[in-house]
Amino acid sequence: MLARRPRRLRLSPAIRNLVAETVFSPAQMILPYFVLPGKGKKRPIEPMLGIFQETADCLVRSVEADLKLGVKNLILFGLAEKKDTLATEATSPQAAVPVAVRQLRKAFGNSIFIAADVCLCAYTESGHCGILKGEEIDNDRTLPVLVEMALVLAQAGVDMVAPSDMMDGRIGTIRKKLDKAGFSKVAVLAYSAKYASNYYGPFREAAESAPTFGDRKSYQMDFRNRREALKEIALDEQEGADIVMVKPALAYLDVIAAARKATCLPVAAYNVSGEYAAVKLLAQAGLASERELALENLYAIKRAGADIILTYHLRDLLREKWL
Ligand code: PBG
Ligand code: ZN
Repeated sequence: MLARRPRRLRLSPAIRNLVAETVFSPAQMILPYFVLPGKGKKRPIEPMLGIFQETADCLVRSVEADLKLGVKNLILFGLAEKKDTLATEATSPQAAVPVAVRQLRKAFGNSIFIAADVCLCAYTESGHCGILKGEEIDNDRTLPVLVEMALVLAQAGVDMVAPSDMMDGRIGTIRKKLDKAGFSKVAVLAYSAKYASNYYGPFREAAESAPTFGDRKSYQMDFRNRREALKEIALDEQEGADIVMVKPALAYLDVIAAARKATCLPVAAYNVSGEYAAVKLLAQAGLASERELALENLYAIKRAGADIILTYHLRDLLREKWL
């Protein structure tokens, strides 16, 4: 007779659940939304099945339905009415996102937690995340614009700002300005280790934010590097980040695990658009079960050490009761 039988712990759903090492809750997940300027428009984002661009009025109705499903945490990305070299609209209180934040707050009060992206790529003519000087990103001229954008979002009523631009020094400058302006309660989620990734393709269509020339490799991280991620995380922590993030998630599970060890701050991971689209495409082609594939990915991200997951799967997960 065999003396050791590991399979005993796998024989029924009940015992498998009893010994599961990884559990997660929708309370620790955030659903991204794309906000259009104007009124009365909602359109599907073709490469991201189930995700939409919508104006504030439509967004309020979507959030109402999502809240009923159990989505309590949102992150908003804005689209511009008009792009220019200085990303003027990024700092306008009348831009899509601040308008939406005010309406959401009015409709739902504190029953939802609202985060908003801070970056210029949807608002610059170039599609780059910073202000250009010639063909180069001018880091230090970009900072005041990001700071102003964060301030406008705080004034509109967000709970958290999420700078995704990868400029040096932005976390500290934003934190200082928010504090000085009386917004010490607004949290900062730093996209600390954001890699120059090929998995952002669908998002760039969703946010209409693809660079018109060149790439983002002079500001986003090189995927050959892990120690550099820990350096970025340490800096963001010193500068006052409340939560640090690794992005994308699936090709960077080692970075998530290293981040979890390197800081006591909560670690978030962004299950990005290309990762989401890949699951949808495999499922549509009949090559995998969407639920099984999505859960495998989400559990992997959690198992690697993420406390918080930003994911486009959240609505389906709740609606279809995947957990
Ligand atoms: C822009 C931004 C990007 C994402 C979030 N913020 C794209 C990029 O850097 O080009 C990607 C999110 C996703 O792919 O789901 N700063
Ligand atoms: Zn950007």
